[in-house]
Amino acid sequence: MSEWHSSGPCDALSVTRLTARHGSSRQVTEYPGSADAGRSGSDPWERQDVMTLRWLITGCSSGLGLALARAAADAGHRVLATARRPSALDPLAAAHPARVVAARLDVRDADQCAAAVRLAVDGFGGLDVLVNNAGCGLFGTVEETSDEELRDQLEALVVGPWRLARLVLPLMRAQGSGHILNVSSIAGRTGFPGLAGYITAKHALEGLTQALATEAAPFGIRVTALEPGPFTTSFGAKAAETRARIPAYEEITRQTREGVQGLADDPSLGRPAEFAELVLRVVAAPPADTPVRIPVGGPAHATIAAVEDAARQELRQARALSTT
Ligand SMILES: NC(=O)c1ccc[n+]([C@@H]2O[C@H](COP(=O)([O-])OP(=O)(O)OC[C@H]3O[C@@H](n4cnc5c(N)ncnc54)[C@H](OP(=O)(O)O)[C@@H]3O)[C@@H](O)[C@H]2O)c1
Repeated sequence: MSEWHSSGPCDALSVTRLTARHGSSRQVTEYPGSADAGRSGSDPWERQDVMTLRWLITGCSSGLGLALARAAADAGHRVLATARRPSALDPLAAAHPARVVAARLDVRDADQCAAAVRLAVDGFGGLDVLVNNAGCGLFGTVEETSDEELRDQLEALVVGPWRLARLVLPLMRAQGSGHILNVSSIAGRTGFPGLAGYITAKHALEGLTQALATEAAPFGIRVTALEPGPFTTSFGAKAAETRARIPAYEEITRQTREGVQGLADDPSLGRPAEFAELVLRVVAAPPADTPVRIPVGGPAHATIAAVEDAARQELRQARALSTT
């Protein structure tokens, strides 16, 4: 028995499972590894093909996570799609009864993280791909953001992904393979005014990715930070506000706020399906061809190229200062 399985049986977890036999959503509370887990030829828990990968994706209720879960299932993979409100996943699960299992997961909740990973591992018999996608924004400057608000951003955007990575690593090390993808942002590579907690958290997620990539590579585990630029999702509409608002920052932060709030309405921005397509290509690529950090979308490439030019200039300035 692997060290993973010695951790004991899965807690009962409320799971929305769809089967071909039922053809519609049914809420069940069960231990998915148990004999009564309802196996059939079209059961998502059943291994269907050696090329089928087993995915766990967070934040699948909308946007990039939903598009990725859909695309992975369309491509024949099996997906544990998770969301804070599993009912939001009903249409996805209904469209892919043989490929998608839906489960509740708020990544800030340690017990739910452990239960979701156990569910994937016990049900699928392993896990090949973890996508830490869940995320939410918080409008506010450093001065406006309270300790509690900062902690909440860090819980969702850093501690949750870190915890999920820690939970899947023993299994991936035992398998000698696996891929952990962290959905970062161009906000993980640069700073702009008015989203201070989010930018801080995405930079930390990049740090987690870089550290883990070096630690996990010897075990055959790939780690990737995906860095989207603007994509058309409900991210801006769902973003919260700091309780404190300081009028002096209003003008300074206006452009950020308007840009993020307008994400859902701008058809010229990236489409979630394009994001999903790229992620499938990245996962399928040979490890040697996969950089640790991958900007996603044309604007992200342009922004990050500019960031790197500025960093080179900064280094020249710093060198000049330190040598005079
Ligand atoms: N759209 C962009 O332009 C853009 C650019 C760069 C990076 N990103 C990143 O892309 C990722 C996906 O965002 P999106 O654009 O697809 O926005 P979205 O449509 O708002 O999706 C975000 C998802 O994360 C979930 N979520 C938020 N907090 C969570 C938590 N504590 N636990 C579990 N799930 C949680 C949301 O669930 P609920 O429905 O429960 O809120 C939703 O399913 C995020 O990490 C975001 O930072 C987006």
